[in-house]
Amino acid sequence: MQIGQYPLTRQRRTRQAPFIRDLVQENRLSVKDLILPVFVCEGSHITKAVPSMPGVYRRSIDQLLIYAQEAQALGIPALAIFPVITPDKKSDNAEEATNDDGLIPRAIRALKAALPDLGIISDVALDPYTTSGQDGVTNENGYIINDATIDILIKQALSHARAGADVVAPSDMMDGRIRAIREALEASGSVNTLILAYSAKYASNFYGPFRDAVGSAANLGKADKYNYQMHPANSDEALAEVAMDIAEGADIVMIKPGMPYLDIIYRVKQTEKCPTFAYQVSGEYAMLKAAGQNGWLDEEKVMMESLLAFKRAGCDAILTYFAMDAARLLLP
Ligand code: PBG
Repeated sequence: MQIGQYPLTRQRRTRQAPFIRDLVQENRLSVKDLILPVFVCEGSHITKAVPSMPGVYRRSIDQLLIYAQEAQALGIPALAIFPVITPDKKSDNAEEATNDDGLIPRAIRALKAALPDLGIISDVALDPYTTSGQDGVTNENGYIINDATIDILIKQALSHARAGADVVAPSDMMDGRIRAIREALEASGSVNTLILAYSAKYASNFYGPFRDAVGSAANLGKADKYNYQMHPANSDEALAEVAMDIAEGADIVMIKPGMPYLDIIYRVKQTEKCPTFAYQVSGEYAMLKAAGQNGWLDEEKVMMESLLAFKRAGCDAILTYFAMDAARLLLP
């Protein structure tokens, strides 16, 4: 055999057996990286399926408490809660969003009373509450008015903080809302309430099943969110959004959607080095579920691979509807 004919460097040496694959593994997924998004609705003893998201349910507060306890028992650190607002409570100016006795404040109080150590992240945005299905109040042309919307978002965030939310998460994409909410929280003494800013939120078509779940799809109709959420073609703009939100007082930034935007997660984490979360959104979940149910993909395997990819891109935590399933697989 002639020396030099074959490789000396063999990348396959470190792939040959589990022990060495384990030792050289660069990124790992832990249950501590997972945030479970949940939908809460009025009533009691209700668990109502979301047809476009198999395995996901809208739960009344009593049922949510049971589910939240399961999540905590599996080691999941936090829930992100979203409301299903009944049509009679929706209005042009989203008054219900600032009601201290509204569904979300009641759910937060119940969760914090029952499970004080489970982190509660509440969504700050008006779309479940507006008759337009938009994340803000609109003028006569249907344009979302930035500053008038901020005034309501401040009240909504304060109401959630009063109810006991650990983290408020503005997902509306109005300019300047992080500073306004931070100042209001400080002024009211909620200095330790965290802000998770949906900084780079794209005008994505992957949100469809979520809008079915919260019941805003019919309100939105054929309208879109292009004049406030980001264009999917843009990437530098995401860095500008993130820098702005950090300067305004955000503790954590979010990129959304997730899988089609891993390049954005990577750039944000490389540039800002700040706590960075991403949202594997409803449409991403629906795709993987559908393929799994058809036998076209191995659901468990693609679920774990997709979540690990978020970690590789630089995510600190991932909001995913797979959180419970992934947590079960991650059990020691
Ligand atoms: C709205 C909001 C949306 C999602 C989270 N908060 C939808 C939207 O912007 O239309 C989507 C989450 C998902 O698709 O799972 N403020």
